[in-house]
Amino acid sequence: MKFLHIPLLRGNNSSKQTMSKVTMPILLAFFIFILTTISCSLLSYHSLLKINDEYKEPSFEFDDLIVPESLPSTPVNKCDIFTGDWVPNPEAPYYTNTTCWEIHEHQNCMKYGRPDTDFMKWRWKPNECELPIFNPFQFLQIMRGKSLAFVGDSIGRNHMQSMICLLSKVEWPIDVSYTDDFSFKRWKYSSYNFTMTTFWSPYLVRAKQVDSNGGLYNVYLDEFDEKWTTQIKEFDYVIINVGQWFLRPMVFYEKQKIVGCQYCSLENVTHLSWHYGYKKAFGTTFKAIINLENFKGVTFLRTFAPSHFENGVWDKGGNCVRTKPFKSNETRLEGNNLELHTIQLEQFKIAEKEARKKGLKFMLLDTTQAMLLRPDGHPNKYGHWPHENVTLFNDCVHWCLPGPIDTWSDFLLEMLKMEDVRSTSKERFHL
Ligand SMILES: *[C@@H]1O[C@H](CO)[C@@H](O)[C@H](O)[C@H]1NC(C)=O
Ligand SMILES: *[C@@H]1O[C@H](CO)[C@@H](O)[C@H](O)[C@H]1NC(C)=O
Ligand SMILES: *[C@@H]1O[C@H](CO)[C@@H](O)[C@H](O)[C@H]1NC(C)=O
Ligand SMILES: *[C@@H]1O[C@H](CO)[C@@H](O)[C@H](O)[C@H]1NC(C)=O
Ligand SMILES: *[C@@H]1O[C@H](CO)[C@@H](O)[C@H](O)[C@H]1NC(C)=O
Repeated sequence: MKFLHIPLLRGNNSSKQTMSKVTMPILLAFFIFILTTISCSLLSYHSLLKINDEYKEPSFEFDDLIVPESLPSTPVNKCDIFTGDWVPNPEAPYYTNTTCWEIHEHQNCMKYGRPDTDFMKWRWKPNECELPIFNPFQFLQIMRGKSLAFVGDSIGRNHMQSMICLLSKVEWPIDVSYTDDFSFKRWKYSSYNFTMTTFWSPYLVRAKQVDSNGGLYNVYLDEFDEKWTTQIKEFDYVIINVGQWFLRPMVFYEKQKIVGCQYCSLENVTHLSWHYGYKKAFGTTFKAIINLENFKGVTFLRTFAPSHFENGVWDKGGNCVRTKPFKSNETRLEGNNLELHTIQLEQFKIAEKEARKKGLKFMLLDTTQAMLLRPDGHPNKYGHWPHENVTLFNDCVHWCLPGPIDTWSDFLLEMLKMEDVRSTSKERFHL
């Protein structure tokens, strides 16, 4: 299908003057055809966005949508933006550790002597379309008067830092945090009245550390983590993420009783693997959001970002020394990575249906496949000085800045633009 040009729909004067009795019905029929096409495309895109395995089906011929005049003119493609490959991008990176002060120490790989720089010079190329590089002006335009929350672990925080660096081309935010705890940072972009916040919640549900050295946590699978559930009601966009912490020692609780544990070596407590807790934690999280009174925001699930330890596990000399992305045919999702992703998708699918009944929108920010292909994007040993004694000596979990995590903002903006087209068109055409 061809690009549909908007001038016809705008009812432009010159065409009215030349309109004869013959062309009138033809135009009318064309108009109706266009309206039907638009609504079909919008609905299809909407359902495509819902769940990853539906993406994998070959999509129809349609490629471009009308872009209402109020929006920038980048065509919005309907394609599976999350399946593709990394291709060279000599123009990247879009910031450095000297232009952006929001690169935290552990992600400042250049400062700690990472010798190679090619890992910054890639962009994501979906198989069936182009994914535009993040445009900070466009993003802030869409976010004017709105608010965005990142809820989850340190990878979510990593994402927010990346976003602050990308947005710094337009504006620096001011710190409007309610606490000194840097896990609960709140930033405001004054000229756009846009607020961005992180909520630290590595299990998404209530959890409590029980011993300080072993890092054993009690995880209360059926209890909301009120540190964020009581705060997000006012937010327009909420990005949920977790994963890595479920691979650690945990004692699971339900109805305030121990139901089992993973790697906890407590006497008489049955082994229960992370799969159980992970699934329940997502169930509880989505329930918290769906049942939140007066919440009208859009919820994104940013799917699990795989780590890349090779030559050993994380605390036994494992490292990540590659300097190039994988091609999509060189590796695939398997083992824990696959299971972490699959459970997320299953729980998301269930929740999305429930949410829809309440008029709430859930969207999948499915970064897993793209990040699986980036073993080269982690700090490895360049997240600290060599003599420093840190827990995660080789960090193959977080992402260097600048680096591949910057692409998450490309994805997010693309999804927001689609949202915007949808809601603008809805008002425009009463779909
Ligand atoms: C930035 O990275 C360079 C190496 O590329 C390093 O020498 C410098 O100390 C870093 N600066 C900051 C502020 O992190
Ligand atoms: C800023 O945005 C908030 C919503 O996030 C809104 O309540 C408030 O009225 C806005 N302020 C201005 C000055 O537009
Ligand atoms: C574990 O179970 C055994 C047998 O039921 C009991 O004798 C023992 O006291 C229990 N240990 C703990 C720590 O509860
Ligand atoms: C992967 O695909 C590329 C072409 O895109 C090809 O050159 C390469 O040989 C393939 N590698 C494997 C392991 O199949
Ligand atoms: C590193 O720190 C840990 C605890 O902080 C300590 O137990 C260990 O001995 C230290 N290792 C070295 C080589 O200093």
